[in-house]
Amino acid sequence: MRWIPSLCLMLLITGAWTPLGADDDGRTIWGDDLRSTLKAMKKVQRSLGVKSCLHCHVKQDGKVKYEIETEHKEIARSMYYAFVDTLANTGKARLEVGHDSTSVLISAVRKLKGEDAGIHLRVVLPAKNKGKEPTTLSRRIDLPGKDQPIECGTCHGGKLHFLTQE
Ligand code: HEC
Ligand code: HEC
Repeated sequence: MRWIPSLCLMLLITGAWTPLGADDDGRTIWGDDLRSTLKAMKKVQRSLGVKSCLHCHVKQDGKVKYEIETEHKEIARSMYYAFVDTLANTGKARLEVGHDSTSVLISAVRKLKGEDAGIHLRVVLPAKNKGKEPTTLSRRIDLPGKDQPIECGTCHGGKLHFLTQE
C-alpha cells in the first residue's frame, strides 16, 4: 500500500504551498515579513474601500487577532490566488464566492492586444426566484500600465462591489 504515504506526502506538499496566514518567517501572501504585510494590507483596504481592517479581521479582548481565520479573509485569499496570481500567470481565472446558500461566479480573461485589450470581467448572479434566469454582468477594465502588476486596485479601484452595486 505504498500510495497511502505518498498521498499523505502530496497533501503535505500542497498544504505547504498555500499556507494559511504567516509562515515561520512571518511571510504572508501580501508580504515577505510583518512590515511589508502591514504596508500591503493598508493598500488592500484602500483598494477595496472597506472601512477598516475589521472588515476581514476580528478583535478578541480588545485586541485585533490578525491570525484568526474569517470568512472575508478566506474570500480575499481566494481573490488573491485567482486574480492576482492565476490571471497574471495564465491570462484567465474564475472563482466562485459563496453567499449564504447561493454562490456568485466571477471570471476574468485578459486580452493583451487589439481594440478590446483589457481584462474582461463577468459576474454571474444566481436567479432571485425559481424559474428566473441568472443575471450576468460584464465589464472591461484597462490593463495595468506597462510592467505594472495586476493588483486588487486594478479591478476594484476603491470599491468592494464595483460591479453589482453601482
Ligand atoms: C479584504 C480583507 C482584508 C483586509 C481589509 C485586511 N486584511 Fe489583513 N489579512 C487578510 C488575509 C487574507 C490574510 C492572510 C494572509 C495569508 O494567508 O498569507 C491577512 C493577514 C494579515 C496579517 C498576518 C496575520 C498572520 O497570519 O500572522 C496581518 C498582521 C494583517 N493581515 C494586518 C491587517 C491590517 C493592519 C489591516 C488594515 C490596514 C488588514 N490586515 C486588512 C485579509 C485582509
Ligand atoms: C481581475 C479583477 C479583480 C481583481 C484583480 C480582484 N478582484 Fe476582487 N472582485 C472582482 C469582481 C468582479 C468582484 C465582484 C464585484 C461585485 O460584487 O460587484 C470581486 C469581489 C471581491 C470581494 C467581495 C466578494 C463577495 O461577494 O463577498 C472581495 C472581498 C474581493 N473581491 C477581494 C479582492 C482582493 C483582496 C483582491 C486583491 C488580492 C481582489 N479582490 C482583486 C474582481 C477582481
